[in-house]
Amino acid sequence: MGGALAEKLLGWYDAHGRALPFRGTKDPYRIWLSEIMLQQTRTETVASYYSNFLARFPDVFALASAREEDVLKCWEGLGYYSRARNLHKAAQTVVSQYGGVFPADYDALRALPGVGDYTAAAIGSIAFDLPLPALDGNLTRVLSRVHGIREDVGIPSVHRELLVRAREDMPQKRCGDFNQALMDLGATICVPGTPDCERCPLCALCDAYEQGDAELLPVRSAGKPPQVVHLAVTVTTCGGKTLLYRRKETLLKGLWVFPLLENARTAEDVARGMEGLGVKTDYVLYLGHARHVFTHRIWEMDIWHCHAAAPVSKGGLWATSEEMNALPMPTAVRAAKEKTLDILQRVHYILPLSPCGGIYDEKLTEVYRNVLLSKTAAAYAESWQGAHRHQFSEAFWREQTPAHMEMILRVHMQAGHDVLCLLMRDEVAGVMVLDRAENEIISLYIRPRFQNQGLGRAALTLAEGDILDPRRDMRIAALQDNPVAQHLYRAVGFSKLAETRVLNAERGVIETDLLRLAEK
Ligand code: ADE
Repeated sequence: MGGALAEKLLGWYDAHGRALPFRGTKDPYRIWLSEIMLQQTRTETVASYYSNFLARFPDVFALASAREEDVLKCWEGLGYYSRARNLHKAAQTVVSQYGGVFPADYDALRALPGVGDYTAAAIGSIAFDLPLPALDGNLTRVLSRVHGIREDVGIPSVHRELLVRAREDMPQKRCGDFNQALMDLGATICVPGTPDCERCPLCALCDAYEQGDAELLPVRSAGKPPQVVHLAVTVTTCGGKTLLYRRKETLLKGLWVFPLLENARTAEDVARGMEGLGVKTDYVLYLGHARHVFTHRIWEMDIWHCHAAAPVSKGGLWATSEEMNALPMPTAVRAAKEKTLDILQRVHYILPLSPCGGIYDEKLTEVYRNVLLSKTAAAYAESWQGAHRHQFSEAFWREQTPAHMEMILRVHMQAGHDVLCLLMRDEVAGVMVLDRAENEIISLYIRPRFQNQGLGRAALTLAEGDILDPRRDMRIAALQDNPVAQHLYRAVGFSKLAETRVLNAERGVIETDLLRLAEK
């Protein structure tokens, strides 16, 4: 056993081995934790998770008595979440079967949940110095090159041959260091593609170096291509909360995600899918696309925002942003989570329902544009009456129904004016109508309970900066005895031009045109 290869390798390791945060300990709990984290994950990524995890669960007893959800939260972002669930179960096994002491035995380690051949060998050799080769990707590459193994390493008999060679190479002592030295050599010098053979301590013993075909090894047959799945990720909000489900499927089991609908391609499909989950949607908006690549699957995700009429659903949890942040959620839905936080925390949102000089959202389908238009008209009716109730007759107000206001908004759109729905968080709070040809703000109305929270100013800023032409004079009209509106318009630079249009002579209602002069 051992010999020249081990001697050269360990000499190199003593001088050049990587100083990784999980090295330099013989504590089997720490070694086991690091080896589980290192399955499928890069050492740089593991480093910060490893220390956080240990701070939260310092020993096997702390981990065994934790809630699974807290373990998953600590694992959030690391991926392959079955590792965290198995880690938790294995900690309970170590406590209940072994009194909290890890067994110094390959078969007993191998029997723990989440511990395969490689991991049992890694823990056994590093923690207990057992002579077990830990044949991971790095060792497979290094040893197939050194020993000139030119058959597909995915074939079980070839894998077994590599294990036999590795056992022959292994020294009697420092078995863990031997494995880790091969890992480091594979990660830094004997890398995939073009290895740095000139710097390799095993160069003189390497068959592939002698034959000149190291770059072609190891031989691996191409695996199956990953399956592409199209999903609608539906950010569903109502009253400051969002709907989440805890996954029961094997992939991402136990993690919290937004409603995921397969093959829902349009806003109408999404609304129908949500109805299947017991959610009645008010409106559906397209938010964007995201992609997540798993080992055997690719999720192509369209992210939608559904506003629910009420926080009611079949199952699931309606969570505030703080509650959502406390739950374990996978990286796959990170983009949707960011958009959700944006929706739940944003104050203003202004949504054009007509082309608006190019800022209109093309994916807003006709059906939902109509839904939003009628909600906007209802907001218009409420705020228009709120502003001028005393200035017009009862008979006049009886005619100013939401349906009438919707007709007015449609007439505006037909005349080429822009209609914008003003939202506060996810509720329709008001309306703005613009005329780009005349560079005029025709109407700006906000429902009373959404006033004085900056929405009017935000709408004016958008109108002036992104839709109307700031190089031309801009016009806005306000009823003379609406001091709130006048004050706001003056604050953003409009000044009185003339008292024009008398709207209701009997009651003395006069509309004042205000002008904002272009900066010359
Ligand atoms: N990858 C998996 N286990 C490792 C270890 N102990 N050292 C370096 N890389 C690893």
